[in-house]
Amino acid sequence: MTTSHIAVMTREVMDLLQPRSGGRYLDGTLGGGTHAEELLKASAPDGRVLSLDVDLKAIERAQTRLAAYEGRWKVVEENFRHLDRVATEHGMVPLDGILLDLGFSSDELADPTKGLSFLKDGPLDMRFGPKANDDGLTAADIVNSWTEDEIERILRMFGEERYARRYAHGVIQARRASRIIGTLDLVAVIQKATPGSRRTLKDGARQIHPATRTFQALRIVVNDEFESLKQAIVASAKVLRPGGRLAIITFHSLEDRIVKEAFHGEGWRAITKKPLVPSDDEIRVNPRSRSAKLRVAERVE
Ligand SMILES: C[S@@+](CC[C@H](N)C(=O)[O-])C[C@H]1O[C@@H](n2cnc3c(N)ncnc32)[C@H](O)[C@@H]1O
Repeated sequence: MTTSHIAVMTREVMDLLQPRSGGRYLDGTLGGGTHAEELLKASAPDGRVLSLDVDLKAIERAQTRLAAYEGRWKVVEENFRHLDRVATEHGMVPLDGILLDLGFSSDELADPTKGLSFLKDGPLDMRFGPKANDDGLTAADIVNSWTEDEIERILRMFGEERYARRYAHGVIQARRASRIIGTLDLVAVIQKATPGSRRTLKDGARQIHPATRTFQALRIVVNDEFESLKQAIVASAKVLRPGGRLAIITFHSLEDRIVKEAFHGEGWRAITKKPLVPSDDEIRVNPRSRSAKLRVAERVE
């Protein structure tokens, strides 16, 4: 199986990470493997790349794609929040560069067993993989056992959902009748709680599905995305050489804020004063890249 994921801002990432032969690089979010392959090509003939992902299917796919780089490329099923430990175990310290391309891949969105899509029926899981969180929490656990207030809070905070209160209430009412098991069960609850005139929401000029923001909020919580990101930045500082660079691509304004604040803090020198965004051409070819922001910082003593 080949990947359907189109990597974002590849040229900008390479320009700023400046991979070189003999260098050591960590790709914390393997996904379809495009960024990993570019790092491998740019660091030929002897640069090394260590990739991490929590999604076993992504790992299997990339093992085929990147087979030609055996000896220079390794992949480990691990959460990037532990990248310092994994890099040390694999003899990659000090690192010259680290890339985190956050969120999920198109392959994961298309995989109904992950439950990430509100257009396909699947289990309400939403974990990118078994190691995506420490406690095995799934989206089904949240909608079936968290309180109305807790659900409202995460929809508001991580989804910026204007109907957070209505949707949280709808979930509580629905689960009194029966457990909410599948993605389309949850979509039906949301549809029912959405005011008739708003069943197709407008986001700027775009029409978005009423379940978009709820699914986003649940996914962020289930995968503990913001906490993992904070831990990965701290971990990166421990294993990058002075002058080594950390590049992070975010897709959510709160994530970008975490990166921005960290990069303006102690131990880092921001290389990108403002985040880089994809060109109009890239957005035309890959509309999913629209909300991407790239920031890069250099490790200082
Ligand atoms: C946007 S995709 C990366 C695409 C990749 N850069 C490429 O070139 O195709 C994000 C990937 O990161 C993985 N991921 C998300 N959170 C993770 C975490 N905390 N630890 C490890 N992998 C993670 C997802 O499973 C997904 O495969």
